[in-house]
Parts: sequence; C-alpha cells; structure tokens
Amino acid sequence: MDSELDRGELSRRNLLDLLLSGSLLSFAAAVFYPVLRYITPPPVSEVTTTSVVAAKVSEIAPNTGKVFRFGSRPGILVQTASGEWRAFSAVCTHLQCTVQYRADLEHIWCACHNGHFDLSGKNVAGPPPRPLDQFNATVKGDEVIVTLKT
Ligand code: FES
Repeated sequence: MDSELDRGELSRRNLLDLLLSGSLLSFAAAVFYPVLRYITPPPVSEVTTTSVVAAKVSEIAPNTGKVFRFGSRPGILVQTASGEWRAFSAVCTHLQCTVQYRADLEHIWCACHNGHFDLSGKNVAGPPPRPLDQFNATVKGDEVIVTLKT
C-alpha cells in the first residue's frame, strides 16, 4: 500500500516537475526570443547599381560639384575648371563621412577631419588612408551618366 502511494506521489511530483520545467522554458523563450530578434539586424539585400543619371549638364557649371545617389551610397560628380567630368564615391575613406567639392581649393574635401582629395580622387592631405573609388562619367545629350569602372 505504501509503495502504491509512493508511486502515485512520485508520478504526481514528476508531472509537476515536468510542467514547471516546461513553463520556465516557455517563459525564457518568450523573454529572450524577442530580445534576440531585436538585437540581430535583418538581412538586407543591397541592390547593385551600375549606372545612374547623376545630373543634367546644365545643372553643373565648371569648377563645381554635386553629390548624387549611386544606389544606396552617395557619389560626387565634379566638372573641373577646364570642363572635364569626374565622378567618385562620395564616401570618405577615413571614417565614411560624405565628401564635398571645394571650388576655392579646386579639389574634394571632407569636413569631418579635414581630409583632402585631388581631382583624380587621390588622398593628398589629412587622415584619409586611400583614394576615393573612381567612377566613369560620360555626357549623353543633357545628361551626365555615371557608371562603375570595370
Ligand atoms: S571621415 Fe573624412 S577625413 Fe575623417
């Protein structure tokens, strides 16, 4: 009789232990899963852009520049004082600030840490460790088309 009672209590205790363990696991999953989902960035597929219309020819005078969107990143289009078109990534190679054209210096400048690039994209002063990525710029009618260099 005692052994049947023990077996009954044991099985009830085992069942309660099992239910309690299951509840704790469910609680932990309910708390940690949303936290893990929050801190894990979602996969983002980047669209690869190979060619864009960066500007109208009439928009940009000699010795000026314009920042444009090249896919998900900025690019910079420059018409030199002599009328040549140049295009680069506008992402500074130091800490990824967006560069701009300085007509007074006739070169590309990064305001974040005073980085300077010449009109071939070469880093000439300041902290940038390497040149800007260069693109092709071609004029078709009134549009300046910028394409990736191959
Ligand atoms: S981010 Fe351009 S110089 Fe530092």
